[in-house]
Amino acid sequence: MAMRFNMGFAISVIIMAAAAGFWVVAAGSSKEIIVAGSSKEIIVKKVKGQKVCDQGWECKGFSKYCCNQTISDFFQTYQFENLFAKRNTPVAHAVGFWDYKSFITAAAVYQPLGFGTTGGKLQQMKEVAAFLGHVGAKTSCGYGVATGGPLAWGLCYNKEMSPSQDYCDDYYKYDYPCTPGVEYYGRGAIPIYWNYNYGAIGEGLKQDLLSHPEYIEQNATLAFQAAMWRWMTPMKKGQPSAHDAFVGNWKPTKNDTLAKRVPGFGTTMNILYGDNVCGQGDIDPMNVIVSHYQYYLDLMGVGREEAGPHEVLTCAEHVPFNPSSKSSS
Ligand SMILES: *[C@@H]1O[C@H](CO)[C@@H](O)[C@H](O)[C@H]1NC(C)=O
Ligand SMILES: *[C@@H]1O[C@H](CO)[C@@H](O)[C@H](O)[C@H]1NC(C)=O
Ligand SMILES: *[C@@H]1O[C@H](CO)[C@@H](O)[C@H](O)[C@H]1NC(C)=O
Repeated sequence: MAMRFNMGFAISVIIMAAAAGFWVVAAGSSKEIIVAGSSKEIIVKKVKGQKVCDQGWECKGFSKYCCNQTISDFFQTYQFENLFAKRNTPVAHAVGFWDYKSFITAAAVYQPLGFGTTGGKLQQMKEVAAFLGHVGAKTSCGYGVATGGPLAWGLCYNKEMSPSQDYCDDYYKYDYPCTPGVEYYGRGAIPIYWNYNYGAIGEGLKQDLLSHPEYIEQNATLAFQAAMWRWMTPMKKGQPSAHDAFVGNWKPTKNDTLAKRVPGFGTTMNILYGDNVCGQGDIDPMNVIVSHYQYYLDLMGVGREEAGPHEVLTCAEHVPFNPSSKSSS
């Protein structure tokens, strides 16, 4: 095992190895090497009294979140296959496109920021199920009598099949000008529509999506990254990200409480889709997303009862954060 040293503020460097979900906590002096099992190397150090870690490619860059298990420790290929069982059947519309590797490669960018690495193992599994619940619902081609049930068809699409328009909004021609001949129809894992959304997400991912929105339907890693960026980024100043609302980093204001917005899955729908799904009672567009989340909780062995009560799980009674946006389908 290689010993690595970090320039600068490292007070102590401890190298540990983790054996299948079991962490060895090192006490004592600096430069201690502890080996327990051999599956993964974790480098631990203290910065300003806080413990931060690096776990190599999947959780890099010395973050407190990288001291916890990573997503691949509790969510593996067979589970991904289980959740998205029908995506490669001949009648699906993105056969061969989506896979576990692109999901986990994309997640590696956001795990050091807390995606799937916040809280304990239960909270981490719930966040993966919640994020994928949105993804599954938005990319499903399942219908009432589909084999395997309507919830088995997530990741059936990677783009809108028969766009009715080019989704170019001239109002944003200075910030996010449309490229001539290019169409901004729905693409991705949580589909992106409109020039201004491609523009904003492109800035976030440092990709020229205004010129090349097609990158999203050509590259599953990028498609997952775009969805994760949306999950991790507040839509507006003063509003939480879906991630912060879900894991409980966000503290509701008095206004939020009056608007029935509480930390949990319901508020992630409010943030991502506003009045397209929220504040209208138990309508189908909302229930479809909730059902995918519950289904994935069951398949991952967490159990749907962990999703909490109706007022946490849904946004049926919410006042939307951003009324009447046209930012999603
Ligand atoms: C890491 O997991 C523990 C529980 O195992 C949790 O208490 C802690 O908050 C987590 N760390 C972060 C940064 O979320
Ligand atoms: C797909 O996107 C990822 C993430 O941006 C990038 O690292 C990778 O090189 C891309 N793959 C191809 C074939 O362009
Ligand atoms: C709270 O809601 C009221 C009424 O809608 C609004 O005028 C006020 O600006 C809001 N305050 C904050 C901090 O958002």
